[in-house]
Amino acid sequence: MLIMGIETSCDETSVALVKDGKEEILNLVASQMDIHGEFGGVVPELACRRHIEVLNPMIEKALKRGKIKWEDIDAVAVTCGPGLVGALLIGVAVAKALAFSLNIPLIGVNHLEGHIYANMLQEGNIPFPSVVLLVSGGHTSLILVEGHGKYKVLGSTRDDACGEAFDKVARMLNLGYPGGPVIDKISKKGNPKKIPFPRAMMEDKENFDFSFSGLKTSVVYFLRSHKREEFSIEDVAASFQEAVVDVLVEKSIRATKKYKVSHILVGGGVGRNSRLREKLTLRCQKENITLHLPHPKYCTDNAAMIASAGYFLYKRGVVSDFTLDAYPNLTLTQKI
Ligand code: KG4
Ligand code: ZN
Repeated sequence: MLIMGIETSCDETSVALVKDGKEEILNLVASQMDIHGEFGGVVPELACRRHIEVLNPMIEKALKRGKIKWEDIDAVAVTCGPGLVGALLIGVAVAKALAFSLNIPLIGVNHLEGHIYANMLQEGNIPFPSVVLLVSGGHTSLILVEGHGKYKVLGSTRDDACGEAFDKVARMLNLGYPGGPVIDKISKKGNPKKIPFPRAMMEDKENFDFSFSGLKTSVVYFLRSHKREEFSIEDVAASFQEAVVDVLVEKSIRATKKYKVSHILVGGGVGRNSRLREKLTLRCQKENITLHLPHPKYCTDNAAMIASAGYFLYKRGVVSDFTLDAYPNLTLTQKI
């Protein structure tokens, strides 16, 4: 079954063709970093305009590159939430038009479920049960996945998402947008133990919520109370990153113990972070847990993960009709 995936929830326009939910034929991603960079974050109106400009040409490019004809497409899967409402609407409208004109099923996909299914593309399988560490620019959660579509959210962030914290701290350090990749890069030259930034909400071993706003404030106070010549930016970045990573790793391991699970999956843009990948790998080896890390291209937003999640929704009989809308605040367990 060949599914076309469409993703426009934030600042990436992506079109993918995926066979049987596992095999990527192609996965085109057009980043909008060039237009949002100068504003230090995503400007929703600009994101929408760019999606409108590039989505249709990308669909045509996908067919041409994949040597696929319209009639070869068996279904269209599209992100319908959560995300920026205007940006989501563009993908949903185009997907509806395709489904209607080609007379094929339309599958509305929850973006968060897409991040989980990025692991399906990587390994061709998702082990059940697993603990998923979902870490993106908009979300930070630990999820127990017991089967296809069977999710239990164990904990989430109470304030900033961890990707958002990376972006905000990078902005304070004048490192540009998005901040995660730059902090990751310059941290390699810094000392992660130099500044003891706080690790929040660690006392209660059975609490899987996160909080990153206190850490962000600590970085603000540190920068305000020190002269520029008293610290190196690399040390601040590395110490901040270490505080985030320590919490993510420790809480993921604790969740596997509490729920007696031996697999951890990672999803979302922060899953690209090299320190997180390194520390989680070492810790999982020590604890005898199998770690599943998607390729970095499947961590950040892409349509292949949407097509994969869409395939497994279709197999469960979950398809949409033309009343499908954009749901900016959709949660993982909410029915569409
Ligand atoms: O999943 P994603 O592409 O979009 C959302 O669904 O939010 O994640 C984007 C987030 C941004 O906050 C970005 O700074 C962060 O992922 N990110 C990283 C890295 N690469 C991307 N954070 C830390 N280290 C990285 N290498
Ligand atoms: Zn995402």
